[in-house]
Amino acid sequence: MNVLVIGSGGREHAIANAFASSADRVIVSPGNDGIAMFHQTVTLDSHEEVVQYCLQEGIDLVFIGPEQPIAEGLSDLLRLSGIACIGASQAAGRIETSKGFAKELMQKYHIPTARFVIADSLEQSIEELQNFSYPCVVKADGLAAGKGVHIVESHAQALEELSAMFIDKSLGHAGNKVIIEEYLKGWEVSLFVITDGDNYRCTVFSQDHKQLLDGDLGPNTGGMGAYAPVQSAEAYRSEIEDTIVKPVLQAMRSEGCPFEGILYLGLMITDLGAKVIEFNCRLGDPEAQVILPLLKTGLPSICQAILNHQVDKLTLDWREGYCVCVVLAAKGYPAQYEKEKPIWLREGLISEVIYAGVKEIDGSLVSNGGRVLNVVSGQDSIAKARQIIYNDIGVAVGFEGMTYRKDIGLRTNKILKDKQI
Ligand code: AMP
Ligand code: GLY
Repeated sequence: MNVLVIGSGGREHAIANAFASSADRVIVSPGNDGIAMFHQTVTLDSHEEVVQYCLQEGIDLVFIGPEQPIAEGLSDLLRLSGIACIGASQAAGRIETSKGFAKELMQKYHIPTARFVIADSLEQSIEELQNFSYPCVVKADGLAAGKGVHIVESHAQALEELSAMFIDKSLGHAGNKVIIEEYLKGWEVSLFVITDGDNYRCTVFSQDHKQLLDGDLGPNTGGMGAYAPVQSAEAYRSEIEDTIVKPVLQAMRSEGCPFEGILYLGLMITDLGAKVIEFNCRLGDPEAQVILPLLKTGLPSICQAILNHQVDKLTLDWREGYCVCVVLAAKGYPAQYEKEKPIWLREGLISEVIYAGVKEIDGSLVSNGGRVLNVVSGQDSIAKARQIIYNDIGVAVGFEGMTYRKDIGLRTNKILKDKQI
């Protein structure tokens, strides 16, 4: 099997690794210079070039990592060209690319989520704010690379964020519509649903750490680290399948856009049960970096089950133990951040290093992104994986100015009824 992985970050490095043992060729496009030390990479400048490349190189399967190519319709183009692809259709991808679409879908099909309104002007949103208490959440409708969600603590702060979106157009088209929603208290967990549109299998739970600083403080980021499995979420599994997974797959079929691929559920476990914070139309980053190494079932078999519409016959086998991933981010991230800092890897490194945002200059790897490296370890306990990773960081792997959380995997997952934000 020849596999082309689309994307350039840590998630795509992890996906390529997961294919490496069973595929004949794994190529990542565009990848990055770190991924290129382990896998072939290729730059393809347009979707048409992707199709041409697949036909020329005999690619059997394209696996799309990020949401952007899905939003642009790459999956549909590949399928039309007769190329097998794991990635939701553009229509199904709306479950991530339009938060308004996702919220209205959940409302229509009674899927538990935060109470919300959708507004398409500053005036309307100011009026709607009267029906919410603080904190509440203001979200841009469209894709905003993690910058579209604001938990606001006062009317003044809500006005500031809404004016930025509607008047200053801080998020461009993504902020033409906003969702105002109730703030949910609880703890967050992620779940991936592998589905052919009708049948599904859920993975183990994982947990991202979205905020920049220890103790879940500071601004939201693309994700500062993750671990899996999350045993405390298992008590909610059957409820989640019954109230969220089955209804959302049915909803997508009823709306004429069955979801085929990997659906990401971002969930809040509240004292009233599990509620959906967001859906994504792809694997999470950095969750993929901890889920994929735990899978015993090969990624090619999972993809074949999706493509052959036989997910009902798929069995997911998991390794014993836990996997932890700590993200090393550039100084300044998630705002403007430093670049081109030399990366060091020294003897004695035990963790696995995944390359997220790096490039090569004069034969040396340097940082080239907000999230630069992922330091990953799979062990029989979270404590052991943490010990290995944190012993390595700074000593055996790192770069100048790196920022990282010291508390990845330490969550207690208790519902904090009076959580301070
Ligand atoms: P989203 O992009 O919608 O997943 O939002 C990013 C992050 O904002 C989530 O991971 C949560 O930590 C937080 N968040 C979003 N919506 C809510 C909500 N209704 N209540 C509490 N926190 C939220
Ligand atoms: N880890 C969050 C995301 O991939 O969207």
